[in-house]
Amino acid sequence: MTKLIVMVAAPQINVQKAETSKLQSFSFENLPFGKYFTDHMLEADYEDGEWKNVEIKPYQPLLLDPSTAAIHYGQAIFEGIKAYKDSEGNAFIFRPHDNFKRFNISAERLKMPAVPEEIFIEGMRLLIDIDKNWIPSKEDHSLYIRPFMFSTEATLGVKPSDSYKFMIILSPSGPYYSKPMRIYVEEKYSRAAPGGIGFAKAAGNYATSLLPTAEAHKLGYDQVLWTDPFEHKYVQEIGTMNVFFIIGDKAYTPELESGTILAGVTRDSAITILKEMGYDVVEDKINIEQIIKAHKAGELREVFGTGTAATISPIKELRYEDYVMEFKVDEWTVSPELKKRLNDIRNCKVADRFGWMFKI
Ligand code: COI
Repeated sequence: MTKLIVMVAAPQINVQKAETSKLQSFSFENLPFGKYFTDHMLEADYEDGEWKNVEIKPYQPLLLDPSTAAIHYGQAIFEGIKAYKDSEGNAFIFRPHDNFKRFNISAERLKMPAVPEEIFIEGMRLLIDIDKNWIPSKEDHSLYIRPFMFSTEATLGVKPSDSYKFMIILSPSGPYYSKPMRIYVEEKYSRAAPGGIGFAKAAGNYATSLLPTAEAHKLGYDQVLWTDPFEHKYVQEIGTMNVFFIIGDKAYTPELESGTILAGVTRDSAITILKEMGYDVVEDKINIEQIIKAHKAGELREVFGTGTAATISPIKELRYEDYVMEFKVDEWTVSPELKKRLNDIRNCKVADRFGWMFKI
């Protein structure tokens, strides 16, 4: 093993490089989302009230005590970020500081320690610099970055853990959803309630979605549109994405104030670009009846999801009880233009006019 020490602000990040790269036998053709991982990973431990042992090392399994708290009580959070490269091979990360801020908001809600910028951002920058040859260059492909933290105390007592692990792994990935989706409006299960953890990127939020999504699949739908837990009327998110409706010359998306919705970085980017395209963006409570009324009046033009993994994903069918709304996605103009403008920035084809691209 080659060992070197790279000094960044504080704390120090130790680097242990893999002797051989898996890249030599890796194919970038038909890349699925999140299945393959690069040569290295970052790992850091929180013990005795401080972050230590910050290390970039060859990608490898973890050895955990069976009583590790996260496995039992779910004190676990994560982020999703993407890296791209320009035509000269320079690597960029899309808005990592926004994900860094959201990560520590999630950490606070789950009673976990904050991760310092020197580890989250500098560690990510260094890790990607080492594995930059893994960044795909094909359309709709990227290097998906997965920072995550979980409690590591070996105890069955229900309490905040006294130790944690923070890690970053990297996955060269293709599109998350490859075709327009069929969605139904969920009226039985709930994803989030005010006062809960809907705004946090907590592992448990994704666990609760699995049974409702499996039931949606049985009915021939791809995902559900989550609604409020009291009346099942106010829309929240679609699957793992934020949701947008284009009605007339306005774009509508649910407001974040009730704390039930993830403050998506792609959601925020979409709002910025839609405004640049001349649309009024309304962030408000959205009643499903309002969507149906717009559909009946012929004013509901487009429905799409936004997310880091999913980017901008069109919805071709939306069903509420017995009312089915079908869309001719091929004829849409707004979300394709939004997606193009976003991708052009991320693939460095146009100037980074919003300061979103963080150069490695
Ligand atoms: C992301 O967009 O990064 C997500 O949160 C989706 C992920 C759970 C696959």
